[in-house]
Amino acid sequence: MLQQQPKIYLDFNSKAPVHSYVKQALFDYLSSDENRELANPSSIHEAGRSARSLDRSARDSVIGSLHLDLKQFSLNWTSSGTEANQWVIRTALVHLLKKKENPIWAVATDVHDSVRSMIPFWEEQGGKVTLIPVDSHGVCDFSSIDSADFISVLWVNNETGVIQSLKPFAHLQNEKPLLHIDAAQSWGKLCPQTEEHLKVFDYITLSGHKRGAPTGIGAVVRKSPLSPWILGHQEGDLRGGTENLLGIVGMKAASEIQFDSTHVEEFRNQLQFQILSLDPRIEVFGKESSRVGHTLFFGCEVWADHAVPYLDLHGFEVSSGSACSSGSVDASPVLLSMGKSPLMARSGIRISLPSDPNDCIFQESEVWVPRFIEAIKGLLGNRVS
Ligand SMILES: Cc1ncc(COP(=O)(O)O)c(C=O)c1O
Repeated sequence: MLQQQPKIYLDFNSKAPVHSYVKQALFDYLSSDENRELANPSSIHEAGRSARSLDRSARDSVIGSLHLDLKQFSLNWTSSGTEANQWVIRTALVHLLKKKENPIWAVATDVHDSVRSMIPFWEEQGGKVTLIPVDSHGVCDFSSIDSADFISVLWVNNETGVIQSLKPFAHLQNEKPLLHIDAAQSWGKLCPQTEEHLKVFDYITLSGHKRGAPTGIGAVVRKSPLSPWILGHQEGDLRGGTENLLGIVGMKAASEIQFDSTHVEEFRNQLQFQILSLDPRIEVFGKESSRVGHTLFFGCEVWADHAVPYLDLHGFEVSSGSACSSGSVDASPVLLSMGKSPLMARSGIRISLPSDPNDCIFQESEVWVPRFIEAIKGLLGNRVS
């Protein structure tokens, strides 16, 4: 029976719904009668000062959630992870071009589109680009970086969930290249020990809606300067425009949520086992690598532009992991860079779960998992090969 059951949303890496804790914080903020914090943080009256103080405490809370030293790191708000990444890359280019010709940007081949799309821009401005390869398990070989002025790393890959080890950067000292890490998919999803080497990075980029904050807010956490981005006096004269206080309240609340993801990982592993048991030709990408527990990316040789609508029709909202253009799913650059065949690279099905083990998806799993497995079985009948 199609369309009778409630839909099961399994696309948290694309966008996590606003978390109930964040919803409450937003509700409290908007509904308080004597809300002194609704004002413009740039205003100098008392209400403006209250708003400014809320903004400052949110910045500290987000930096604190990364276990970074508030004396060393500061934060600038953006509208998204995309904006944060592109602001950092433009900053690095502007800064480096002042010092030398043809600055080299070493960029991992598995980066998000918001970073990859800046490669032509970097080259047009006279910079050079070196690609850092990933192996067939999705792990980056940072030892291949010969010389670089600026390095961009994706900490947790949005498609495979593979976690890159930051140890290769830990020894870098004063003469190091500028370091940028895209932490959009890792924020709040890794244990503090894993975050130990984060402090070596100059720029850390975040996206609110991946962690249960509303869409429309992101951040650059940094210990190196940013160049001006939008003319105006906000963000220390770097990014004009009245601060998005509602988004900031959401970011603060999101930064306060802590999860123990052990249960989520166990659940993912069981689901993975059931899917792999269906057919030996199914491949789980990045399975042998250290991965975040809420992501499962697999291919079963069925085009993703068929598989994703098929699963949707059967009540499951999943993603292909890679971009869609003109209604068809492009081959995933991440899977291609892992050496997967063009067929596999257009066949990825990504399930991404909530990080919160108390989410109702887990409580209701006895109902939907058997249906999901049946749907995948149905898909296997549509194999290309
Ligand atoms: C790794 C990574 N970086 C950056 C972004 C962009 O974030 P936003 O959607 O906030 O622009 C995403 C979004 O999917 C992502 O997965």
